[in-house]
Amino acid sequence: MTLDPRWHVVEEKFDPKKMGHYESVFTLGNGYLGTRGVFEELYRERTPGTFVAGLFDQAHPNEVTELPNLPDWVEVSILLNGEELDLTQGQVLQYRRVLDLKGGVLTREVVWESPQGRRTALRFRRFVSLANVHLVGISIAVTPENYDGPIEFRSALNGQVTNSGTQHFTSIEHSTYAHRGIYLLQETVQSKQQVVVAANHVVHGVLLDESFKNAHRRIVYNAVLSGKRGQTVGIDKFTTIYTSRDQDLPRAVNLLHHALAASSRQTQQGFDQHLEVHQQVWEQRWQWADIEIVSDDHFDQLVVRFAVFHLIQMTPWNDPRVSVAAKGLSGEGYKGHVFWDTEIFILPFFLYSFPQVAKNLLTYRYLTLPGAITNAAQNGYSGAMFAWESADTGEETTPEVGGIDPVTRKPIPILCGKQEHHISVDIPYAIWNYYQVTGDRDFLLKEGAEILLLTARFWASRVSYNPDRDWYEIKEVIGPDEYKEGIDNNYYTNALVQWHLKKTAELVKLLKESPAGQCVLLKLGVTEGELQDWQVIAAKIRLPREGELLHQFEGFMELQEIDVLKYRDVPGLLQKAYGWEEINRSQVLKQADVVMLLYLLGDEFTLAEKRVNWDFYEPKTMHDSSLSAAIHSIVANDIDLAEEAYAYFQKAARIDLTNSMGNTHAGLHAASLGGCWQAVVHGFGGVRVKSGELSVTPKLPKAWHSLRFKLAFQGKRLQVSIRRDGYEVTTVD
Ligand code: BGC
Repeated sequence: MTLDPRWHVVEEKFDPKKMGHYESVFTLGNGYLGTRGVFEELYRERTPGTFVAGLFDQAHPNEVTELPNLPDWVEVSILLNGEELDLTQGQVLQYRRVLDLKGGVLTREVVWESPQGRRTALRFRRFVSLANVHLVGISIAVTPENYDGPIEFRSALNGQVTNSGTQHFTSIEHSTYAHRGIYLLQETVQSKQQVVVAANHVVHGVLLDESFKNAHRRIVYNAVLSGKRGQTVGIDKFTTIYTSRDQDLPRAVNLLHHALAASSRQTQQGFDQHLEVHQQVWEQRWQWADIEIVSDDHFDQLVVRFAVFHLIQMTPWNDPRVSVAAKGLSGEGYKGHVFWDTEIFILPFFLYSFPQVAKNLLTYRYLTLPGAITNAAQNGYSGAMFAWESADTGEETTPEVGGIDPVTRKPIPILCGKQEHHISVDIPYAIWNYYQVTGDRDFLLKEGAEILLLTARFWASRVSYNPDRDWYEIKEVIGPDEYKEGIDNNYYTNALVQWHLKKTAELVKLLKESPAGQCVLLKLGVTEGELQDWQVIAAKIRLPREGELLHQFEGFMELQEIDVLKYRDVPGLLQKAYGWEEINRSQVLKQADVVMLLYLLGDEFTLAEKRVNWDFYEPKTMHDSSLSAAIHSIVANDIDLAEEAYAYFQKAARIDLTNSMGNTHAGLHAASLGGCWQAVVHGFGGVRVKSGELSVTPKLPKAWHSLRFKLAFQGKRLQVSIRRDGYEVTTVD
């Protein structure tokens, strides 16, 4: 295989210490399901993970709902003349694992010498089909180099896996089917969803023996092939996954029969045929999504494609009941929950590449409105209050406690579910953005309008009036910077609420002009008095500032100052030096907060304001959240800090590939991947939409010769080509 540094992510060396990191990086997915890039053979460090989008379960009332970890379908132990393949033993003579971003294939090529001196070449290929989302496949080819002897494959479906100890499934049945098939039928404990994982096999070579083994929640197909020096034998494992939640199931179907029949059909085609159709779909996706960067160093090109690749893999393609988890489908981190990460960080990529998918993501919020209405009511508010962490129903699912505070040695309470309310303005912001970019008035005036109106109603009940100062306040919140809890008048939140209430007035004008719009107003019982109140609140909302300097919140300036720069490059160092309480009382930010606002409402701030606030807040920011760096890159570009813009882009782009935050093993940082795309297109590409008009003001980094990408904009497809000496925007078919 010839390597292309612009398309191939390569692991050059087998290193068990980095296993978790690469498992996340090499995740394969198709939006319906995702599987971590675990090895086929077993290692102590191996953390298998297969997740189906939207299939939530709350195993115990004391635990929050999460995406259950499905049976491990990847496992295949290999015995080479009786010696088990184990790269921690013997000698690894050659090793290379390659993720081909262009075609969505994970390949591993190894030459291994066993402790007894048997040398074997092995090649593993894996795909998670984009053409048939229920199908995943592995092909293993084994060539004994200096011996003859039996080659044995023990291919398992292992339902003993848990979510860090939580078992989400009741086992219903495990057995065999067809000629070489094994399956597990399970049901989630609380949500009562059935899941079938069925693996069928095709063997290549002279079969000496085959058998099955059945154990507790685990079933194995064994094939023993005759191995001859220099001759390749192998096995293909096609796994089929169906759940009773699937929207593409025929009515009243028997899930197990359906899955097994599909599996048997699929096995009639070869691995290469399946791979080919899968790769054709990738080709179509890349046609619209690719970003081409010409520079002396190929790394920037690779990381941007890596980001786009994973964004495509982690996002449901046509299921509006489901959104994107903070870790995509690549790990247990954040339990598969959906945050503002989707609307503010991930959505823009889809908006400009695959608008239909963006619409689905927003429809997910529409479908979870009943949950948001419940959240508001439970907290004594009106309208709809979106969950900080959302799952299938839209009700709040944020856990109550997190990690241990190194200073107090007690678990840190997580208050985000109770206080991080800005999500209820981030979603309206994204809806307006969607409307601006797509021109989809239908969506705005129906689903979009309901969301905007119900959240406006929420905010009107959330603010409090201060008669002494004649202003409206929003007290006890957490802004984007999660190092500050229970704060009043977070500038980010208040400014966006003001923006939201003003936009709602524009929306209401549009609604009144159409019968469908009038129906929405009627349905929600929106009154003239209410509309007036919203505008009064917008006009009088408290926005704490001193000249050009925006106060992150009331009282921020009085907090103690600490030397943030001393701590910021080593994850966890700040937390060791200062306890959680002290961090809360200091001028130290976890992530972009005011700077985030300078980006989202860029047109509302002057260049001077942007500069003043950058100078003040940037040195106080730890970037302890992966959401921070990409936004800093964009804002740095806006204020002509070219070097900082590029440095922050590089920081963002490396988070998962180099594991710079040290936690990629728990899953990819989906928002950061979306942020990277924005740093390129909105930052260096300078693409913005102002009052429904597209503008392009490119600022190429010094290191790049050219940048080219496509955009979907108001029903048209455009190509933006930027060179050092100019740029052009052309229409494409
Ligand atoms: C960040 C949030 C983010 C969440 C999920 C947290 O660490 O502070 O802004 O939404 O991670 O990615």
